[in-house]
Amino acid sequence: MTSVSPVIGLLGGGQLGRMMIQAAHRLGLQVVVLDPDPKGPAGQIADDVVVGHYADSAALVALAERAQVFTTEFENVPSASLRFLAQYGPTYPDAASVELAQDRRKEKTFFAKAGIPVGPYITLNSLTDCEVLKRSHFPAILKTAELGYDGKGQLSVNSLDELGHAFQELGSVPCVLEKKLSLKAEISVVIARNAQGHVAVFPAAQNEHRHGILHTSTIPVSLPPQLVQQAEQYAKTIALRLGYVGVLAVEFFWDENLGLLANEMAPRPHNSGHFTIEACPTSQFEQQVRICAHIPLGPTRLQFACRMTNLLGDLWFPNGPGKPMREPDWSKLVPSNDAWLHLYGKAEPRPGRKMGHIIQKLGDA
Ligand SMILES: Nc1ncnc2c1ncn2[C@@H]1O[C@H](COP(=O)(O)OP(=O)(O)O)[C@@H](O)[C@H]1O
Ligand SMILES: [Mg+2]
Repeated sequence: MTSVSPVIGLLGGGQLGRMMIQAAHRLGLQVVVLDPDPKGPAGQIADDVVVGHYADSAALVALAERAQVFTTEFENVPSASLRFLAQYGPTYPDAASVELAQDRRKEKTFFAKAGIPVGPYITLNSLTDCEVLKRSHFPAILKTAELGYDGKGQLSVNSLDELGHAFQELGSVPCVLEKKLSLKAEISVVIARNAQGHVAVFPAAQNEHRHGILHTSTIPVSLPPQLVQQAEQYAKTIALRLGYVGVLAVEFFWDENLGLLANEMAPRPHNSGHFTIEACPTSQFEQQVRICAHIPLGPTRLQFACRMTNLLGDLWFPNGPGKPMREPDWSKLVPSNDAWLHLYGKAEPRPGRKMGHIIQKLGDA
């Protein structure tokens, strides 16, 4: 493969990678994917695929031989792999930021040290840690400290009595027990920071979840402007403190009593930032590519109000899971005006699996 610009080496083969590659191709850049599945959403359209596991050193060397800059599209990428690749070229994000985002305990400690409020929680490395718990901590949500996503690795716990069973059900691994908040709203802020330290902030998104999975993101948010500015400031503080280079998403809760609280961060483009493809001059994926290729960041203003709706695999099973599969009736799902359908090319629809999304224009910005 020959190319003047750097070839981007991408760890991960999912939909975020696919959209990153689409952005790279528009800029004439090439992307090599490392993934066990060459036919995944990103592998299908990549310029080259190294088939292998993310922690396989032979596969990582093969990637390093084909690319000059490295990035990832999923949160649970082994940080050791990023460290390994850093011997060959820059990795955006860096291994240390990824490690922080992979552990809810480290993430919350970091937020608090940076002066960013988080909701009430305690760390449970073993069940004996729950002896200090007060009744007022319930109802609560038990979350594994590592490897959770889309509400996986989480259980509602209504009382101290239920805790032991829930802890076991999650595998008796280190957890955080968060007090269940009275959420007035959830928002997320996606920002991009390049190697020169320039920062571009995307318009905040207001997120609605169903069963722990993002259902819709609406932009602009309907929250007091000072709250949004605060959230943007927190996101910038996080990026600055980490010396972060890449696209970073921060999820926030707006609690009735406690105000704005940081929930978690993702060191990559985020599901709630998909609207940027159509509704901003530069998408979150293009920013990530620009950062990798040392092209200045692009403008991020909102060009029109819109809503993103995730399309889950459930849509392919109108009569319920386990019943015959059927292609969704797109004429009913996709609005006829000012709407964009994205499908990720996943071969197998499964309940809860993200298969695509729709962006619908709601009006002027
Ligand atoms: N402490 C909490 N109080 C109320 N709702 C919560 C709390 N923690 C999580 N949730 C709900 O569950 C969703 C998923 O939780 P989150 O911590 O973001 O995990 P994931 O890594 O799966 O996205 C949140 O977006 C929110 O809707
Ligand atoms: Mg989340």
